Amino acid sequence: MMDMNAPQLSLGVIGAGAMGTGIAQVAATGGIDVIVFDTRPGAAAKACEGIAARLSKRAAEGKMPTEDADAAAKRLHPAASLSDIAPCAIVIEAIVEDLTVKTELFSELEKLVAPDAILASNTSSLPIGAIAAGLQRKDRVAGLHFFNPVPVMKLVEIIRGPDTTEAVAEALFVLARRLGRTPVLVKDTPGFLVNFGGRAINTEALALAHENVASPAEIDAVMRDCYGFRMGPFELMDLTGVDVNFPVTRFIYESFFDDPRLRSTPMHRYKLETGQLGRKTGRGFYSYAEGAEKPSADTRTGANPASAVFIHGEMRGLETLLAECGTDILASDDGTAPILAAPLGEDASAYAARNSLDHRRLVCIDMISDTAKRVTLMTSPGAERAVLESVIAIFQEARAVTAIADSPGFIGQRVAAMVANLGCEMAQTGLASVEDIDLAMRLGLNYPKGPLELADAMGPEIVHRILTAVQALTGDDRYRPSQWLRRRAMLGLSARQA
Ligand code: NAI
Repeated sequence: MMDMNAPQLSLGVIGAGAMGTGIAQVAATGGIDVIVFDTRPGAAAKACEGIAARLSKRAAEGKMPTEDADAAAKRLHPAASLSDIAPCAIVIEAIVEDLTVKTELFSELEKLVAPDAILASNTSSLPIGAIAAGLQRKDRVAGLHFFNPVPVMKLVEIIRGPDTTEAVAEALFVLARRLGRTPVLVKDTPGFLVNFGGRAINTEALALAHENVASPAEIDAVMRDCYGFRMGPFELMDLTGVDVNFPVTRFIYESFFDDPRLRSTPMHRYKLETGQLGRKTGRGFYSYAEGAEKPSADTRTGANPASAVFIHGEMRGLETLLAECGTDILASDDGTAPILAAPLGEDASAYAARNSLDHRRLVCIDMISDTAKRVTLMTSPGAERAVLESVIAIFQEARAVTAIADSPGFIGQRVAAMVANLGCEMAQTGLASVEDIDLAMRLGLNYPKGPLELADAMGPEIVHRILTAVQALTGDDRYRPSQWLRRRAMLGLSARQA
């Protein structure tokens, strides 16, 4: 097998669409000769010209040396026919996502290239083992899954099929690094790592909206302000397009035999059926019409703040927060002041009933999610609006406030616990190493922390308590804790403990 660091390396790219073009670009800038083939007449040449133009623009902007841009452009060669690929030491396929078309292509490729050439697929959903199944030599076939847009996204998932040799996987690691990417090794399972892991935040955000707990704008704001996500889940679904994320969600849900952890909601499908695909159609979960304003995520009031509150139970940080807002804390319940509590995984109704509290005066605050920018408040049905408003008024000068309907785990606890739990499940099923799970989710989806890092930041025992409470109150196995999480929570270990 050819050394992937060899100065004279030749790489074939089949499919000159969005992904193939990006792959060809990073290969050419990595000092590799690239031969591009596409069945659409003129597509390969157009892709090569497009890359050359992009690189020369980058050079003009001072983002890369002009001689590097020129040299990379010279390494790009459109193929007149598939047989031009024959001299390549490695071929990366990025054609239409169709197993029959891909297997036909791979059986043609194996006849064309040298016996030790590597054949890689950029498929996002098809099993690598299925692409290799009918071939003479399955050992040299692997998945090399790039992310869109390739020149920007550093992550590459390397997937071994049942017969892929260690040497082939190793060679792909070397190649990925030469292309300036960060490779992770992932099992050949549906959605691989990032597309699987990404289901947690989207489906839980959809579940919250489905239950009328809060609006997409409120859910997005909590995930941005309290967990540091660059975009909220609805903003991200609108950006990628519901025509992309709904089919992926459905595919992964069905591939895992309807595991409720991966379940979406009717609204997700409805957006697709009604053409509300997101930014590309001008309307998705938000409107992108000219002059359309984003709905506010803040709940504000003209009421006066309560001068004193009674805190039921203990929660680190709540007294400090109230002191900062200038609110007195009563030593005992006086029967009229608002009662503040900070439940874990419980809703206000369950908390009030379990502790025999006056639910009309109970206002719950999420103290697990970061409160530096935004606080989430929650009340039960039948709570007095005036009491809630007097508590909103306490916080609204110092923080943004989002008041939501009753929900076990508020917004933040639920979504964060689901993200952490799916990360734990990835570790439990050996999808990738603990380090790679966190790395891939940070690089592939821009997460501020990987899911296992998030579990540790919250505390595995806290995440486990949230999930157990939500599962008990909803009766929904969607919230069942991963065994990986339970064991580490029970033993006081880190979620990253292998
Ligand atoms: P695309 O539709 O932009 O490009 C596909 C190209 O393949 C087209 O130019 C088409 O003419 C060509 N093609 C189709 N059949 C061919 C054949 N038999 N031989 C040669 N060329 C052929 O598709 P895109 O988005 O670039 O996706 C390509 C692959 O990458 C798919 O397997 C997709 O699942 C995967 N992928 C896509 C990502 C994305 O965000 N678009 C991300 C990661 C993977």
